[in-house]
Amino acid sequence: MMFWLSFLFLLSIIAINDVVALVVADAKRIPSTLDGPFDPVTVPYDVSLRGNAVDLPDTDPRVRRRVKGFEPEQISVSLSVSYDSVWISWVTGEFQIGNNIKPLNPNAVASLVRYGRSRFPLTHEAIGYSLVYNQLYPFEGLKNYTSGIIHHVRLTGLKPSTLYYYRCGDPSISAMSDIYHFRTLPTSGPRSYPKRIAVVGDLGLTYNTTDTISHLTRNNPDLVILVGDVTYANLYLTNGTGSDCYDCSFPDTPIHETYQPRWDYWGRFMQSLISKTPIMVVEGNHEIEEQAGNQRFVAYSSRFAFPSKESESSSTFYYSFNAGGIHFIMLGAYIAYNKSAEQYKWLERDLAKVDRSMTPWLVAAWHPPWYSSYKAHYKEAECMRVEMEELLYSYGVDIVLNGHVSDEN
Ligand SMILES: *[C@@H]1O[C@H](CO)[C@@H](O)[C@H](O)[C@H]1NC(C)=O
Ligand SMILES: *[C@@H]1O[C@H](CO)[C@@H](O)[C@H](O)[C@H]1NC(C)=O
Ligand SMILES: *[C@@H]1O[C@H](CO)[C@@H](O)[C@H](O)[C@H]1NC(C)=O
Ligand SMILES: *[C@@H]1O[C@H](CO)[C@@H](O)[C@H](O)[C@H]1NC(C)=O
Ligand SMILES: [Fe+2]
Repeated sequence: MMFWLSFLFLLSIIAINDVVALVVADAKRIPSTLDGPFDPVTVPYDVSLRGNAVDLPDTDPRVRRRVKGFEPEQISVSLSVSYDSVWISWVTGEFQIGNNIKPLNPNAVASLVRYGRSRFPLTHEAIGYSLVYNQLYPFEGLKNYTSGIIHHVRLTGLKPSTLYYYRCGDPSISAMSDIYHFRTLPTSGPRSYPKRIAVVGDLGLTYNTTDTISHLTRNNPDLVILVGDVTYANLYLTNGTGSDCYDCSFPDTPIHETYQPRWDYWGRFMQSLISKTPIMVVEGNHEIEEQAGNQRFVAYSSRFAFPSKESESSSTFYYSFNAGGIHFIMLGAYIAYNKSAEQYKWLERDLAKVDRSMTPWLVAAWHPPWYSSYKAHYKEAECMRVEMEELLYSYGVDIVLNGHVSDEN
């Protein structure tokens, strides 16, 4: 119950600044939905918050590459569908940007995690897969990008609420990481909840982001939910020059540019938090990042591990998982969602499978809110609402988490 009281507090924070909301421990004074219904509250936009967010530059030590050769960097943990499994992800090798880039061979470096309940020995081993992705622009003057090797490894057979140590990398080339640790989530059940879940949207990589992440880290959450708009790499030209304004940046090119190294910077900056606290991400409009061949969302889909297969989704854009007695459903607002779309059918199946005696709380998250009075995004997601709202109501979704409505710099 504590958790849920806290969760309401979180929503009110989101409404105020849309930067970060953290479930706080002192929940006694915070009413729950059971005390309601309450009159809706509108918080006027504080214009003093607008417009002075400054990106971390590539010279900042927190975004520089600190490893050699094929040693792992940008290490993160994310959840599978239940407490007994997580994904470990990392990057090896250097990205390239410019002309005539030559993608690395993803199979050149193994994807291995050693893990266990004590630091030494790490008794278990798991093998995963690796990939590289490209961000290509078939236009004169724009630079192409190819990533380092991205590794994803799924650990299974974990115990609930348990601390695990791990190292990742390729032992055959002496490229293993230091030892990191994470804690698994509690089992599902009506009295079993994570203590704190941090919810953040529209994160970026500004000096304000560093404040947000410090605040979040100090509060020691069990899980981080990132409801889209991750790095804002699409506010950059491919030559690395940033811009404050998405709409006015690219008047000439037929495709919006991005500067993919911002993703690597973000992964490096975030490692200290998300190598120990699992993060679950769902895509926002800033992840669209269109490129040659009508490809979209390639960095998003490549860099994060999602429990898509485990939750019987065929897509990185929507999936579900349990965190203790909560079933989370992450939905895609920028891909097909109408009643004949695969996403909608998956959502119907997923909702039908939810066992409310094991996960009494049902939480749905996606990027753009269906209800907002913010002028710049007014009714932007109305089509999605029309298609899906009835279905979510019919299964009694308790809470919806969104981002997007923020001053986008
Ligand atoms: C980038 O890749 C595209 C698609 O393959 C190609 O048309 C373009 O010439 C490349 N640009 C550079 C600068 O290498
Ligand atoms: C964001 O950071 C800038 C300094 O870069 C600071 O002036 C501003 O107050 C911060 N904004 C918020 C909302 O904390
Ligand atoms: C990048 O391109 C823009 C637009 O052409 C130009 O104004 C800027 O000076 C360039 N920056 C660099 C670092 O070359
Ligand atoms: C659903 O969307 C698809 C593609 O976006 C479209 O072709 C189809 O007609 C739509 N179906 C309905 C029932 O609206
Ligand atoms: Fe957004």
